[in-house]
Amino acid sequence: MSLLNQFIQAKNQGRKWTMLTAYDAPTAELLENAGIDLILVGDSLGMVLLGYPSTREVTMDEMIHHAKAARRGARHSLIVGDLPLKGIEKGPRQALASARRFIKEAHLDAVKLEWGKDAVEIMKLFSKHRIPVMGHVGLTPQTVKGRDGFKVRGREALCAMKIFMAAKTFEANGAFSVVLECIPKAVASIITGRLKIPTIGIGAGPACDGQVLVFQDLAGIFKKFHPRFVKRYADLDRVMRRAVESYKQDVLSGKFPKNEHSFSMKTAEFDLFLKGACV
Ligand code: KIV
Repeated sequence: MSLLNQFIQAKNQGRKWTMLTAYDAPTAELLENAGIDLILVGDSLGMVLLGYPSTREVTMDEMIHHAKAARRGARHSLIVGDLPLKGIEKGPRQALASARRFIKEAHLDAVKLEWGKDAVEIMKLFSKHRIPVMGHVGLTPQTVKGRDGFKVRGREALCAMKIFMAAKTFEANGAFSVVLECIPKAVASIITGRLKIPTIGIGAGPACDGQVLVFQDLAGIFKKFHPRFVKRYADLDRVMRRAVESYKQDVLSGKFPKNEHSFSMKTAEFDLFLKGACV
């Protein structure tokens, strides 16, 4: 059975799924070797790696460039490509072309689509063309303007109901899974219980069928913001900074490079070279 089918059929089997982001080959390889179930080439790429102020600036070409790298690093994993705003904003036809690029050019298995104004039409087209889609509801970063918008969604009953309906609509239109981002855990628990497809939570509590985090958040590499839902498992930023500072110190003090980092040549060849160089 394909990995995608195993994942789809895994609901209610008491197994939790793990997903992490990767935008490059070494990270994807690390996640695959560590047994992470799904890899997401997220449009968080824009903020985490490309230095944009939000995810809204990321282009489809940039996503494909990184998706190809992730696939080169993880040949066997289930990899999902995140449809960026610039890849869908012109409507369903553009969204279909973008999704096909992830699958045909980067050899990914599925795409992720944030809930938005064209989501239903896009889903209908994807379903017709058998594109596997993971939905994304709750806090949807592509529709957030400015840092103040990064708040919990669904704390009021009406908003919670809209999120629930969006998740149901994704399911009804063929999504194989839905990401629930930054919503109260009680709402996530009800949505997870009412959907037949697995939910993947980020800031949505423990009841979801799986969890996702941005790798650079988990590893302590991206430290511009620290959302409450992120658990840092390492402080790689500090480790890397120390390594770079030590390198600088060693170069300045002459401790690096040493003999073991240098190459030699035969004396006779060097003498010849010296004669030539001194003419
Ligand atoms: O872009 C991303 O990394 C995401 C996850 C946070 C779900 O959408």
